Amino acid sequence: MKIALASGNLHKVSEFKALALTTHTELTIVSAKSFGGMPEVVEDQGTFVGNGLKKALALRAIVPPDFWVLADDSGLCVDYLKGLPGVESAYYAGPESDPKANLAKLVKVMAAVPEVNRGAHFVCVLILISPEGKQHIFEGQSKGHLLNEPIGGAGFGYDPLFVPEGYSLSFAQIAEAQKNTISHRARAWAKCAEFLRR
Ligand code: IMP
Repeated sequence: MKIALASGNLHKVSEFKALALTTHTELTIVSAKSFGGMPEVVEDQGTFVGNGLKKALALRAIVPPDFWVLADDSGLCVDYLKGLPGVESAYYAGPESDPKANLAKLVKVMAAVPEVNRGAHFVCVLILISPEGKQHIFEGQSKGHLLNEPIGGAGFGYDPLFVPEGYSLSFAQIAEAQKNTISHRARAWAKCAEFLRR
């Protein structure tokens, strides 16, 4: 089975390839780069499902018909901010989608917020489109809390600020293989992989 991945984010591609190895050895994941790059998509739907579907359909239009297409839309929802940055996570600090600026803005916005109010969760919605055009949706979440300052050099995005439940290290301090056992993306992928197995 061949799956084209609707993402230009190299970290996400790497995580999905590793996840696929843990669940599906018969699966080949090919990034959008192999098809000339991920088409430009304006993420204006206001929901993870809506934005994910837009990405999936944009890639579906340019990949060979025998490929499945998988799109991911994800984000960090902070309780104190009533779910923000959420679906706007990639553009929190502005339309140029600068991960460092996004992280810095969140650190600043949360600076005076005490530990008890620093709960947050990552969300990942996966949209899978079959060669026949059928759409399937899977969701995964990872709960945790935010640190006061970013720490750790692994991962991407908000990883250095997020400590998953039951851990004392940030997502950016643990190995990708470890993150891949508890992340929102891993949990959504587990559901998707189960569907593909069936
Ligand atoms: P998307 O690529 O439009 O789905 O944007 C997702 C944004 O959410 C990314 O740019 C990151 O800022 C954030 N994000 C999603 N998943 C993760 C993760 O696993 N770690 C850190 N940040 C993430």
